Amino acid sequence: MLTSSKVSKEWLSVVEDLRVGDVVFVLGASDTGKTTLIKFVINECIKKGKRIAFVDSDVGQTSIGLPTTISSSVFSSIEDLKSPKINSLFFIGSTSPHGNLLQMAVGVKKTTESVLRQRPDVVVIDTTGFVHGPAATELKYQKISLVQPSCVIAIQREAELEPLLRLLSNSFEGLRIIRLNPSPDVRARSFEERLANRERRFARYFSRSSILKIDLGNVSLRRGYFGGGLPISSSRLYEISKIFGADFLYGEEGKDEALFIVRSAGYIPALVSKVQGFIQKSSIRIVPLGDLEGVIVGLGNKGGFVLGLGIFSSMEGGTISILTPLKDVSRVKTITFGTLKLEPSGKEVGKLSY
Ligand SMILES: Nc1ncnc2c1ncn2[C@@H]1O[C@H](COP(=O)(O)OP(=O)(O)OP(=O)(O)O)[C@@H](O)[C@H]1O
Ligand SMILES: [Mg+2]
Repeated sequence: MLTSSKVSKEWLSVVEDLRVGDVVFVLGASDTGKTTLIKFVINECIKKGKRIAFVDSDVGQTSIGLPTTISSSVFSSIEDLKSPKINSLFFIGSTSPHGNLLQMAVGVKKTTESVLRQRPDVVVIDTTGFVHGPAATELKYQKISLVQPSCVIAIQREAELEPLLRLLSNSFEGLRIIRLNPSPDVRARSFEERLANRERRFARYFSRSSILKIDLGNVSLRRGYFGGGLPISSSRLYEISKIFGADFLYGEEGKDEALFIVRSAGYIPALVSKVQGFIQKSSIRIVPLGDLEGVIVGLGNKGGFVLGLGIFSSMEGGTISILTPLKDVSRVKTITFGTLKLEPSGKEVGKLSY
């Protein structure tokens, strides 16, 4: 933890100016000291006897939750800091907001809303370093529009946040904006360091996992390839498998589209045109099982949050097999597919592009 002598006057005045009821959004490019400032604010608030909630939406370099998720925790004592109790887990499925802008905005809103029900004195929200360019500006703008924080802390090296800050002050009446420079002691972290940090977290999380089978009849699959239709029955899949001489493990049929997961890779385009003649849908997608192996998934119940994470293993006979540390999957109602691919050891092995 930072000693008081290393803390600038600005940081002390940030804490002094906090009011009960404040919701604070911390913005800044990568390695500007956002998380360090937040840790300082949390410590100081605890010392003052305040209950402070933390929303960790930095899906790449998370502080309390797992990479690929947005999580929250409430702190009222130093003990709480040692092993933060996760209040809620929202699954993004990627270590970056790219391709997940809608989910990022909804996730931050839902997570903040959920932690506000714990009646904290103050909420602080950590964000990713995605701040440059129109897409980043738009994402931050929409998140702030949804969450309606009372205060934004902008840590900028030069004036890189000014386009966003100008937009915010033109858009939101009464929003306090505090501009800070990064501390001279900030240390930039390399890509390798960030990767190692994520892999360590995944390794710890998946260390006591086992492969659990979930009945596909009880769950909805979503994101990526999934969600465009209703599941095709096992008997029809068996029939299709026999006709086309391939192992059709899963299928979904929508109005104009169908999706199939098949065991062997083979030559997919030839299979697609044959199946298209039989199924009569304008869009047919056939995905080899191997493409999905290792994909990170969120295991959700009701309400949009997840109970935990898993790594996709296989599909067969009306079940889906997931490697997960969860012991009881009876409450799982949704399985959300991410894009990151992991080995059970936590090693990142690639990304799925849908
Ligand atoms: N005021 C400070 N004094 C000493 N070290 C600091 C200070 N601020 C940040 N650092 C160090 O700099 C590094 C980056 O800081 P930090 O993780 O807080 O940045 P960040 O903006 O949250 O980065 P990211 O975008 O990766 O989440 C860390 O190793 C941190 O310990
Ligand atoms: Mg950070």
